[in-house]
Amino acid sequence: MVGGEKELRIRFVPGCCELVEEDVDIPSRRALITGATGLLGRAVFKEFNQNNWNAVGCGYRRAQPKFEQINLLDSVAVHEIIRDFQPHVIVHCAAERRPDVVESQPDAASQLNVAASGNLAKEAAGIGAFLIYISTDYVFDGTNPPYKETDIPNPLNLYGKTKLEGEKAVLENNDGAAVLRIPVLYGEVERLEESAVTVMFDKVQFSNKSANMDHWQQRFPTNVKDVATVCRQLAEKRMLDPSIKGTFHWSGNEQMTKYEMACAIADAFNLPSSHLRPITDCPVMGALRPRNAQLDCSKLEMLGIGQRTPFRAGIKESLWPFLVDKRWRQTVFH
Ligand SMILES: NC(=O)c1ccc[n+]([C@@H]2O[C@H](COP(=O)([O-])OP(=O)(O)OC[C@H]3O[C@@H](n4cnc5c(N)ncnc54)[C@H](OP(=O)(O)O)[C@@H]3O)[C@@H](O)[C@H]2O)c1
Repeated sequence: MVGGEKELRIRFVPGCCELVEEDVDIPSRRALITGATGLLGRAVFKEFNQNNWNAVGCGYRRAQPKFEQINLLDSVAVHEIIRDFQPHVIVHCAAERRPDVVESQPDAASQLNVAASGNLAKEAAGIGAFLIYISTDYVFDGTNPPYKETDIPNPLNLYGKTKLEGEKAVLENNDGAAVLRIPVLYGEVERLEESAVTVMFDKVQFSNKSANMDHWQQRFPTNVKDVATVCRQLAEKRMLDPSIKGTFHWSGNEQMTKYEMACAIADAFNLPSSHLRPITDCPVMGALRPRNAQLDCSKLEMLGIGQRTPFRAGIKESLWPFLVDKRWRQTVFH
């Protein structure tokens, strides 16, 4: 069941405890978050929930018990949840976002990244909901940064192509929708492998083994909490001003290669970094990546929208639960 105005609470009185049904205040602004079990979606769900929105999150394989389980390829299920919940805003975070998986399973990736996105946009238009489609800096080829929203995309890999086709499918089906392009993400992870940034932590921590790190691709690691805030601010601006639509860019502003991120992580935890080796050649394995797809964020900044967490602070907060040597925590917190 979506939403609801009653909640079961346990009430303790001397000698017994009982289950009681109580009225709860439900905010009148409703937001539906797809991909709410994923890295970004979890942060977006939390951000809306904590800021006076009635947020419902959808997941798929990891949905139960906290979120609604919806396969976005099932258009009947998508129609039903949107009709029942009547969201004012939909933040569409669900996607296949791993470039190498998209290359190996192109049809499945295209179904989710393109067809399901177009269908969601059509459903959103049907009830007048504002849809924010999350896209990527990988729509650009990285040869002429920084990129404005008006610059011509030219994705180098299939992931970037499916996301760009997803953008087109969204805007064709819903001319009031927004596309928000973002770069590589990090934040609170369930597993280190969830983010291309946090996955480096074990190589950083286990300093008895030397580790090669890419020092060719220029990146702008961006905290999911900041993207979530941008989504909420954009949604709230749009509630007041219907001209807020179209394509937007958001990004952290610290330029780093993976090697530099790994060194910054080591520095944040006071760990050695001499075992990390910068590799300056263009990677030959896996899907092609843009060298520098820096996003120009001035359009959102001019609207007064934005938040940037410094990388060292954000990465420390995200990674400390995975620190093997907990003595570091003792020296810091005691
Ligand atoms: N991660 C990055 O560095 C990065 C960079 C730029 C842009 N982006 C974009 O940001 C968005 C969020 O990325 P993310 O890193 O948060 O992704 P993620 O952690 O891989 O999460 C993907 C989400 O999609 C859901 N999903 C997968 N198949 C589904 C289906 N058939 N029906 C419904 N839901 C389905 C997953 O649900 P279950 O797990 O429950 O199955 C999960 O919640 C994506 O649009 C991505 O393209 C990400």
